[in-house]
Amino acid sequence: MTDSQQVSKLIVTIDGPAGSGKSTVARMLAKRLGVDFLDTGAMYRGVAAAAIDSDIDPASEEHVNSMCDQLHMRFNWDADPPALKIDGRDVTHRLRDADVTRAVSDIAANPHVRRMLVRAQRWIGNEHRRIVTEGRDQGSVVFRDAQVKFYLDASPQVRAKRRTLELHKAGREADEQKILQQIIYRDERDRSRRDGPLVCPDDAISVDTSDMSIEQVVQTLHEKVQQVMEGAGGQR
Ligand code: DC
Repeated sequence: MTDSQQVSKLIVTIDGPAGSGKSTVARMLAKRLGVDFLDTGAMYRGVAAAAIDSDIDPASEEHVNSMCDQLHMRFNWDADPPALKIDGRDVTHRLRDADVTRAVSDIAANPHVRRMLVRAQRWIGNEHRRIVTEGRDQGSVVFRDAQVKFYLDASPQVRAKRRTLELHKAGREADEQKILQQIIYRDERDRSRRDGPLVCPDDAISVDTSDMSIEQVVQTLHEKVQQVMEGAGGQR
């Protein structure tokens, strides 16, 4: 039995800006803890992909909102990482495409979409009970009462380099300078957003990953989760 299976509820949130390593770290941490991994960015990207593929302008709130009301989104938790299905179709392969990445800021700024996805995420948290969830509003808005909260950060330059390498590894073209500009633009939008802005929650453990390897970050977070669970002394 892993440590995390001794507690009935364990929500670990990882907030932070684009390219801070949230997704990779969250996936690895979830595996190490033996719990499910929730990629909330994939949900926003899924809505963006659905809009583009239905010829809907992602910036048109009215059209996106009525599309969303008909949308059936769910994860296949048997896949690793969990695959995203929209209206029964696996859209996972679309999520990192350049057109989706360009459109997703408009989608993430749409209050109706945010309300819908926050509700869906809380529902998943209730159903699964032990998860590592990542996304910029997870500890600050969605799971305010999470047992452990982290905020991962890194300089924009380091984040652009990581994203470029990631895309190259996936066999995709990537221009580091363009990616850096996109990151700065997205940070600005995400920080100034009225709904669920990118902030470090007061009670989050902040980790600057600029000079750390992924393995070091995962190890640091894993130790902190264990400390919190030991501190909880089996009360849950
Ligand atoms: O982490 P990511 O790059 O896959 O996120 C895609 C977009 O969705 C990005 O613009 C931030 C936004 N997002 C959000 O607003 N709230 C979340 N919980 C997750 C992602």
